[in-house]
Amino acid sequence: MSGPNSDYDPVEVTPLHGDQVAAMRAEALAAIADVADLDGLKRVRLEHAGDRSPLALANREIGALPPQARKEAGQRVGGARKDVAAALSERAEVLRADHEGRILVEEAVDVTLPYDREPVGSRHPVTTLTERIGDVFVAMGWEIAEGPEVEAEWLNFDALNIGADHPARTLQDTFFLEPADAHIVLRTHTSPVQARTMLSRRPPIYVICPGRTFRTDELDATHTPVFQQVEGLAVDRGLTMGHLKGTLDHFAAAMFGAGIDTRFRPSYFPFTEPSAEVDLRCFVCRGAVPAIASCRTCRGEGWLEWGGCGVVNPRVLVACGVDPEEVTGFAFGMGIDRTLMVRHGIADMRDLVEGDVRFTQAFGVEV
Ligand code: PHE
Repeated sequence: MSGPNSDYDPVEVTPLHGDQVAAMRAEALAAIADVADLDGLKRVRLEHAGDRSPLALANREIGALPPQARKEAGQRVGGARKDVAAALSERAEVLRADHEGRILVEEAVDVTLPYDREPVGSRHPVTTLTERIGDVFVAMGWEIAEGPEVEAEWLNFDALNIGADHPARTLQDTFFLEPADAHIVLRTHTSPVQARTMLSRRPPIYVICPGRTFRTDELDATHTPVFQQVEGLAVDRGLTMGHLKGTLDHFAAAMFGAGIDTRFRPSYFPFTEPSAEVDLRCFVCRGAVPAIASCRTCRGEGWLEWGGCGVVNPRVLVACGVDPEEVTGFAFGMGIDRTLMVRHGIADMRDLVEGDVRFTQAFGVEV
């Protein structure tokens, strides 16, 4: 048993024993070697090299030693701390490289992989065509007029010389709104917009009226209860059927290409006199003579039915407050859906109304 040593307090110096320091060092080095990532290393650094780590606490004890013991203890603890610091920085380097390598692999983007694009949709071709038609007429100085889809029966029919007993007024064609004695309908054509225009301003009038129209048809390949029309109205001094023909020929060429013109076939409309059906020269076989029987667009006719037209009936002018002694007018109307179907070879009208984006996207975005 050793005698008391007044300079050496065994309680104080225990942490400075060679094997104690070696154990702290070994424990620190083992923990460092064991750690698997940078977060873990941060913890280990705090535990084994931080201010409250065993080696740091041991280091503090050195000051309490008798001077002759300080050097050796200092070297021992200092050496151990140096080794731990070196091991920490070495391990940090390895883990950092490891981390970066993993990021490179894990966050690599394979630009050749297939991907899902956010579908952007596209404008409906009826909308695009309606705007194109508008452009053709605006370029000639015409204006675009619009009116309500829910319309007074008087404007939809009476003002246009369609008497109460006219077949177009029967429940077969027209959607009537309740109550029946309110005489409100879903407009069956956009002609009431023409009546509204004449009632609200003085000639000269040059307007087209594109818009949605309604008839009680079942939806099938060639009919839809909701469709779009564009009608035109010109009221001015000295207008003739010749002006009408020239306007429609220009319209046809602007829509279908130079050289595509129209022909008129005598017809009847209550609101025009004389009246004609407008045919469009087939833009595929170009109305060849003799006709090309194999043309799939016109089925060998050389012409495509396009719409109706005529010189505005004086009774309509009078009903709309315009003096037929002073001015004359011409009017025309065609289906936009039908024009689109002919122009793009669309066989089934349901494709136009079903809203399937795969259909509209095929037309792209026309600007
Ligand atoms: N409004 C007629 C229709 O619906 C078309 C047309 C307009 C005919 C103008 C002649 C003149 O069918």
